[in-house]
Amino acid sequence: MILIKSPQEIEAMRRVGAVVGRFFEEVGPLVRPGVTTGLLEEFADQFIARHGVRSAFKGYHGYPAHLCTSVNEEVVHGIPSVERVVREGDILSIDFGVMLDGYYGDAARTFAVGTVNAESRRLLATTERSLEKAIEAARGGNRLGDVSAAVQSTVEAEGFSVVRDFVGHGIGRSMHEEPQVPNFGKPGAGPKLLPGMVLAIEPMVNAGGYEVEVLPDGWTVVSRDRSRSAHFEHTVAVMEDGSRILSLP
Ligand code: MF3
Ligand code: CO
Repeated sequence: MILIKSPQEIEAMRRVGAVVGRFFEEVGPLVRPGVTTGLLEEFADQFIARHGVRSAFKGYHGYPAHLCTSVNEEVVHGIPSVERVVREGDILSIDFGVMLDGYYGDAARTFAVGTVNAESRRLLATTERSLEKAIEAARGGNRLGDVSAAVQSTVEAEGFSVVRDFVGHGIGRSMHEEPQVPNFGKPGAGPKLLPGMVLAIEPMVNAGGYEVEVLPDGWTVVSRDRSRSAHFEHTVAVMEDGSRILSLP
């Protein structure tokens, strides 16, 4: 069952989403050559305390950090570490979620570290654009497949691949609610989108093949061919005549 949120609940989700959006605004300037993903985690820890919110990820199925920090061929769920230095030319995906007043917000974005190569620039731009197209498709009266297909067609037109093994999700009083939001699918298929549904739409896009594997740490997901991967996510409310991004400051 896909839960419908009342206008008051959407307002609460906008408040937690605004905190998530603010985090990305503040963390962006810290992503520079030489920074460690452990330092970004330390920043997240302070940010969470300063805003009086609860970490969504830490402790989730035993996940050990507030952030997921995934570098280059890492797709998602990279664990921050003070040993992991990001360098000029790397790409770094940061995923962050928190809870406030009982509601969750969740977002992700991939940053270029200094100057990156042309293919990486195209990978980031394409993944972000696929999310924008999906958000446009997340309007009342459309179907979930329209959202999925918007991502897939945008990505595949550029010769990149959408990851199959991980998907977006409904979000609300739980970080993960129904429905699953795949980044591949057919227009017109799946459940009808109704005003008040809230979705975390999160394209994960590999420059090479779509296959992924999990590293021996049990968390870090990498592309099987070790091609670079990008991840953009927003928490989005379905509206009667469009949709609204909740995870913005
Ligand atoms: N944004 C991711 C998700 O939707 C991150 C959660 S993974 C966690 O599932 F294990 F770190 F929490
Ligand atoms: Co998510």
